[in-house]
Amino acid sequence: FSAHAYYNIVKNNGFPRTEDETMLYGQFKEGMFWSSATASYQVNINVYCLSIWDKFTHTPGKISQHDTGDFACNSYNKLDDDIAALKKLQVSHYRFSISWPRVMPDGTTKYINQAGLDYYNKVVDALIAANIQPQVTLYHWDLPQALQDVGGWENETIIERFKDYADVMFKNLGPKVKLWITFNEPDRPDTLPYIVSHNIIKSHAEAWHVYNDKYRASQNGKVAITVNSDWAEPRNPYKQEDYEAARSVVEFYLGWYVHPIFNGDYSPHVKRSVLEQSLFTPEEIKRINGTYDYFGLNHYCSVLAFPVDFGTTQHYEADSDRTWIESGSSWLKMTPFGLRRLLRFIKEEYRNPPIVITENGVSENGPVDLNDVHRKYYYEQYINQVLKAYLIDGVNIIGYTAWSLLDNLEWAVGYTERFGLFYVNRSDPDFTRTPKASVSYYSSIIRCNGFPN
Ligand code: NOJ
Repeated sequence: FSAHAYYNIVKNNGFPRTEDETMLYGQFKEGMFWSSATASYQVNINVYCLSIWDKFTHTPGKISQHDTGDFACNSYNKLDDDIAALKKLQVSHYRFSISWPRVMPDGTTKYINQAGLDYYNKVVDALIAANIQPQVTLYHWDLPQALQDVGGWENETIIERFKDYADVMFKNLGPKVKLWITFNEPDRPDTLPYIVSHNIIKSHAEAWHVYNDKYRASQNGKVAITVNSDWAEPRNPYKQEDYEAARSVVEFYLGWYVHPIFNGDYSPHVKRSVLEQSLFTPEEIKRINGTYDYFGLNHYCSVLAFPVDFGTTQHYEADSDRTWIESGSSWLKMTPFGLRRLLRFIKEEYRNPPIVITENGVSENGPVDLNDVHRKYYYEQYINQVLKAYLIDGVNIIGYTAWSLLDNLEWAVGYTERFGLFYVNRSDPDFTRTPKASVSYYSSIIRCNGFPN
C-alpha cells in the first residue's frame, strides 16, 4: 500500500480541503453505463425469518420505529412500477440484489426454490425487454438464517455454500446477466474475529473462479466485489500524525478487501495491526490475487482523521469540517472533492483498473419534500468530480450507479433516512412511486453522458 500515492494526492491538493467547484464541461467515454440501485431486503417483500435481517428487524429495540422489511417497497409485486421509474430515469442498467434465502431457503443446494428462480428470471426478462441491463449483487447482507445458525461467516464451510449459491445463479441468470457483484460492501471488522472478512474474501475468490472456469467462455460477463470507502484527509494538515491517521482510514476501508484481491495478500499495515491469527497461505494468496474483472466502489463522503491511541487496532478517529453541507444521515456530509481524490488513488494504487461506481447518493429525513435540491446539488457536484477524474486524471470510469432508485429501508434507521430518487408512499396500498425533482436532473446528465458545453 503506497504511502507515496496517498501523500501526493493530499499534498498536491492542499488546504483547505475543498475542491474547486467550478464545473468542468465535457462528456464521459462512449459506452459509459448509467444505473440506479436497490437491495433485496431494503425494497422487497421479505419472508419472515429466512434471512438474518428478518430476524434482526423483528428483534425488539434493534430498528428505529420498529420498522421491518416485511413489505418494504413491495417491489416483489411492483415490478412494472419499478421499471417505469427506471425508464423515466433513462438508465441503461439497474442494480438489484438476489435474496439468497429466496432461492435456497436453508442456504444450501439441498432444496432450490424454483419459484424464487422464476421470480428473478421474470425481473431480468422484464428489464431486458425494457432495454435495461441487469447488474446483479449476489450478497447484499441478507444471509440465510439457517447458515447463521451454524456460525455464519465465522464458519469456514460457508465458503463452499457461497460458491454453490453463486454457481446456481450464474447458471440460471448468467446467459442474460453480464455484470455481477459478489459482495456488497463487506464491513471492516472493528473487533475480533477477523475470520469473518477472511472467509468473505475467500468466498468471493471462489465465486469468481467458478465464473471464470465454468461460465466465462459462454457468458462473457464481468464479476467483482464492491467495497465502500470514504476518503480521508488529515484533520490538521500541518501534523504528520494526522496524515498517518488519514492514510490508515483509506488503507483499512479500501484496502482490507481490495488489497488481497488486487495485489495479493493483506497490506503490511493491516497485517501488522490485527491479523496474526488469520493470515493467508501462499496458495491462498495466489488463488485470491487477480479475482476481479473491474473495481466496484461505493462512495458517499469524506472524513477528517486524527490519531487517538497508537498501539490499539483502531488507531484513528474521524471528524468532519463544519463548513461541509449536511444530509439526512449524520455520517454523510457533502464532500464531492473526496470522490475525485479517491478515484485517483485507486488508479495509482491498483494499476488503473476499470472502475464501476456501484453506489453514490444522499439522504434526507423529516417531512417529505419532493423538491430535493440537496440531491440535485449532490449529483451535480459528485458526478462532475467523476468527470474531472476521467478527463483530467485519466481514471478509467466505466459505469456510475445512483443510490437509490427508491426511498427504502435504511437498515437500522428504518424508513427515516430516505436516499431515493423516487419517493415511495408506504401508507398507500399501491406503494406509489413519485419522482423527486432530482429524477429529471439525473436523467439529463444520463442523456448528455455528462456535462457537455
Ligand atoms: C450502502 C449500502 O450498500 C446500502 O444498502 C445503504 O442503503 C447505503 N449505503 C446508504 O447507507
